[in-house]
Amino acid sequence: MDLGCAVGRTTVELADYFKEVVGVDLSHAFIEAAIDSLPSCNCLKSKIRFEVGNACDLDKSLGMFNLIFGGNLIDRLYDPAAFLL
Ligand SMILES: C[S@@+](CC[C@H](N)C(=O)[O-])C[C@H]1O[C@@H](n2cnc3c(N)ncnc32)[C@H](O)[C@@H]1O
Repeated sequence: MDLGCAVGRTTVELADYFKEVVGVDLSHAFIEAAIDSLPSCNCLKSKIRFEVGNACDLDKSLGMFNLIFGGNLIDRLYDPAAFLL
């Protein structure tokens, strides 16, 4: 998971290393832009999805992840402890 993915640059990079990657951001506008700018290559599209979500209150239906990457995220959160716990 790329948490606080903005427009998904790192999400796409992570797809080189993982079978499945989910980019999550609080901003609807960023998630729409991420979906719109996803490279057209089918091999990437099948591995990547983007969803609106809140790092301080993540929806459990997102599932389990081998890695949660939160680049430049923690200092932007209104409740960093809720993200970490
Ligand atoms: C500084 S940007 C970092 C973007 C990207 N990870 C990078 O390193 O380039 C912080 C991102 O966190 C998102 N963000 C802020 N609060 C958030 C929250 N509570 N849950 C999810 N994303 C959040 C912002 O919308 C923004 O896209």
